[in-house]
Amino acid sequence: MNGAPKFDRQAYSAESRATAARWWHSLLIQEDRSRELVENLVNHLERFDAPKVFVERARSIASEEARHVIICSHVAHELGFQVIRPPIRPDETPKDAFALAKVMLHVLIAGFAVAETMSVGGFAAARSRARAPLARWALGEILRDEVGHGAFGEEAGVWAMRDWSAARRRTMWPACVATMEAFEQRAGVPADAHANEQCDVLTALLGAPPSAVVCAGLLRSTERWVLPRLARMGVLPESIRFPVLG
Ligand SMILES: [Fe+2]
Ligand SMILES: [Fe+2]
Repeated sequence: MNGAPKFDRQAYSAESRATAARWWHSLLIQEDRSRELVENLVNHLERFDAPKVFVERARSIASEEARHVIICSHVAHELGFQVIRPPIRPDETPKDAFALAKVMLHVLIAGFAVAETMSVGGFAAARSRARAPLARWALGEILRDEVGHGAFGEEAGVWAMRDWSAARRRTMWPACVATMEAFEQRAGVPADAHANEQCDVLTALLGAPPSAVVCAGLLRSTERWVLPRLARMGVLPESIRFPVLG
């Protein structure tokens, strides 16, 4: 794959490679799901006459997500495993405009402004432990793109809520909380942030750290980036605003 560093398979045990490959496979599935969501989003934005700049940006994000799938597949292949891309059961597109607008808002705000922004912390944490050049490269490529995806969620989300009152914007908050909780649980919320770190050292070098490391990264990005972003968008309730957010 273009730009990917070579990988020395002999330097790692089959067991470490297999564990890491499973991590990369599950990331591939998430990336493929993101690709599908964004492809649908392009259609929704067009249907609601979104500014061209948002439609084009969503289109290029869909290509970036498709590239993330290829990157994950490449890493797993270099680790010595052929990964299968399971078919995605497409979500049903709502027929009426009101329900469709609701789906679009959810994807932009809970999906992009929250989940994609949170993922940045997880990827950064994984990259900080990774030592294999191939893993560092792959995580760096994905991380760079995800930073932009979160920013897109904020900009397009503000456009989608442009006629909303302050009170109505805050009605998006429960969906954001649900997304944060689901994301943390999927990553495996750590009871002890240092649990099982030692036994996973080799796997972490291949870009697949213990869930505690990823979770700590997700929580960091929630505090640093997600909540300030939601505050700027007017989604964060006044009652839980932090002094630093202004
Ligand atoms: Fe992605
Ligand atoms: Fe993304």
